Amino acid sequence: MDLESLGKEVQLAIQKAASLDEVESLRIKYLGKKGELTKVLHSIGKLPANERPKAGKLANKLKNELGELIKEKKEEIKTHKSLPWEDLSLPGRRPNVGGLHPLSILSHEIQEIFIKMGFSVVTGPEIETEYYNFTALNTPKDHPARDMHDTFYLKDGRLLRTHTSPVQIRTLEKHSPPLRIISPGRCYRVDTFDPIHSPTFTQIEGLWIDKNISMADLFGTLDLLAKSIFGKDVKTEFFPSYFPFTEPSAEMWIQCPFCKGKGCSVCKRRGRIETVGAGMVHPNILESLGYGEFNGFAFGMGIDRIAMTKYDIDDIRLFFQNELQFLRQFDDSKL
Ligand code: PHE
Repeated sequence: MDLESLGKEVQLAIQKAASLDEVESLRIKYLGKKGELTKVLHSIGKLPANERPKAGKLANKLKNELGELIKEKKEEIKTHKSLPWEDLSLPGRRPNVGGLHPLSILSHEIQEIFIKMGFSVVTGPEIETEYYNFTALNTPKDHPARDMHDTFYLKDGRLLRTHTSPVQIRTLEKHSPPLRIISPGRCYRVDTFDPIHSPTFTQIEGLWIDKNISMADLFGTLDLLAKSIFGKDVKTEFFPSYFPFTEPSAEMWIQCPFCKGKGCSVCKRRGRIETVGAGMVHPNILESLGYGEFNGFAFGMGIDRIAMTKYDIDDIRLFFQNELQFLRQFDDSKL
């Protein structure tokens, strides 16, 4: 190759180079000890004497020019001047990262509260059998309590779990007490969407089995939960209730954090909001699993309603519509 074309080739390659490493390897390839231009320079001595001065001059000139070009290119890359499409004076654009859904934020917050109290987090399947969803929970076929849950059945006889309570049974089958678990997850009931109903919702189940557990332990635990979510001034009240798998059963209501008990649209003028269903685990359940000498409590809460109260959301459907304007209000990356 003649010197002129070699020069053009190197010039082009330097222009195209986009990184310091690339420029450096070009320098080595052409101007290094064994570089192509260096070889040309060395071979000049073999030329006929009358050609030597001209060729030598040309080769040296090219060597200096390319050396200069490489130096400049390196400077340009270092200062970014070589990228005309980049306007460094423009304000930066943040990458569009996603944030957590408000239900996930609340679920994590509640999980943290219980983890601090020594609970472990476990999960169970959303497609369940009648056995785990009802029968093992002291709710045999034809038990009127089954009507409390309008159930989605699958063709094969299985069902979409109507609550997270089946996880109590699945856990107790695998692990013997004493134990403390909570279990967050999706549940399903036949319901049409309206501002306060949804065919799918999220519950968190809790179970504490040991010896000598009392209703007072249950009330204390749930009161602490309410205060951690709604602030230490929130008032809790407990009323008798009914669930086939707990005896006695109770429900916890919290004083409406908006009107402080006076009655407003959020609490439907009741002054209080129902939050958690709970009770002492029915002895039938513990006995049938072989844990007759233990006792304990269980509770279950729908966190959609709790989130609506905590974040002042008036329509449950907002949780499912994936509207960015709504979701971004909870996004702590503040896009
Ligand atoms: N599983 C009950 C429900 O969905 C709540 C509950 C859980 C009640 C555990 C008592 C004990 O309504």
